[in-house]
Amino acid sequence: MSKSIKKTICFDSFKKLYAFGENLAIDLSLSENPLGCSPRIRQKLSVLNTNINDYPDPNLTKLKKAISRKFRVGVNAVFISNGSESIIKLLPIILLGKKDDEAIIPEITFPMFEIVSRFGGNGIVFSKMISFDIDLENIKKLITGKTKLIFLCNPNNPTGRTLAKKRILEFVASVKPVVVVDEANIEFGGRSVIKEVDELENLVVLRTFSKGFGLAGLRVGFAVANPRIIQMLEKANQPFPISVVSEKAAMIALSDNSFIKKSKQFMNNERRFLTRELRKRGMKVIDSNANNILVDMSMLNKNNDLISRLNDLEVSVVKGSSFRRLDDSFIRISPRLRKTNNEFLSKIDEIINDIKT
Ligand SMILES: Cc1ncc(COP(=O)(O)O)c(C=O)c1O
Repeated sequence: MSKSIKKTICFDSFKKLYAFGENLAIDLSLSENPLGCSPRIRQKLSVLNTNINDYPDPNLTKLKKAISRKFRVGVNAVFISNGSESIIKLLPIILLGKKDDEAIIPEITFPMFEIVSRFGGNGIVFSKMISFDIDLENIKKLITGKTKLIFLCNPNNPTGRTLAKKRILEFVASVKPVVVVDEANIEFGGRSVIKEVDELENLVVLRTFSKGFGLAGLRVGFAVANPRIIQMLEKANQPFPISVVSEKAAMIALSDNSFIKKSKQFMNNERRFLTRELRKRGMKVIDSNANNILVDMSMLNKNNDLISRLNDLEVSVVKGSSFRRLDDSFIRISPRLRKTNNEFLSKIDEIINDIKT
């Protein structure tokens, strides 16, 4: 029996443990507390008008329909789970079935792509960047019969660099492996390819409610892809991936276009502000189009102590060595409110002054 068939049986039987969505009048199938939950919790959550005593709808039909309407994609092209990271984790499970199947990942990108692709012992091929940009031509050259999965991140984390929509679509159309485009940060920059899933069988778009929609604590992410891939994801997923509260909040978030617009404008302003201020101080800031900014701070890291100095000053950043090819002369920062951004800059000034004296 092949590895992938064994997996399917396992996941099917897992789902059979539950009586899904029967919704009949006398329902003794699920084991919630018949008394509900503490009234204190009910009171706090009453504004969301959700029944947190019941298990969520395992098919998440309402949220799927809301996503389908909002992004004009088929309902059966939508898969929802607890954060897009949980979907990233499932992708190698369903797509790298054989031991020698491989994934291609750009050298400098979201580290989780590499971590999850290693779980099954599969090989990874890293594609070179052109300076800090993902090089689609290089990826194309690296594709072999073993390549089953390609990860792209747009806008890319940690660089905030974007790939043009047209180039992504031409690339996906010209290659055989499944191409995952992680658009976790797309509300802040770049153009989505979500609608094109309809025409491209090998395109998987990942989105999240954690960033632009501001609901990171509720853990809701979704994938839009060909229904064949969506079915594979559904089989591999846990039965109740998100809570009723998360589903409700995500639906409300989808309806508020003005918040997304305002967030993008805010982020653009603060990104420009930080970029300008850091450059004034002599730092090399990689031009970003989104909410992550990669900064080359070599100037302040001569003794390889920049990260510990920042920590001592209560400044938290993502250190460069979290990413392949980068060391701790680089930091990734994400703009916050202006007050915090100014506090960060004043700490940088402290380090600059220390070095001078
Ligand atoms: C590119 C990218 N993908 C996925 C994620 C994970 O998002 P989620 O909160 O939906 O799991 C992040 C979070 O930082 C990210 O930057």
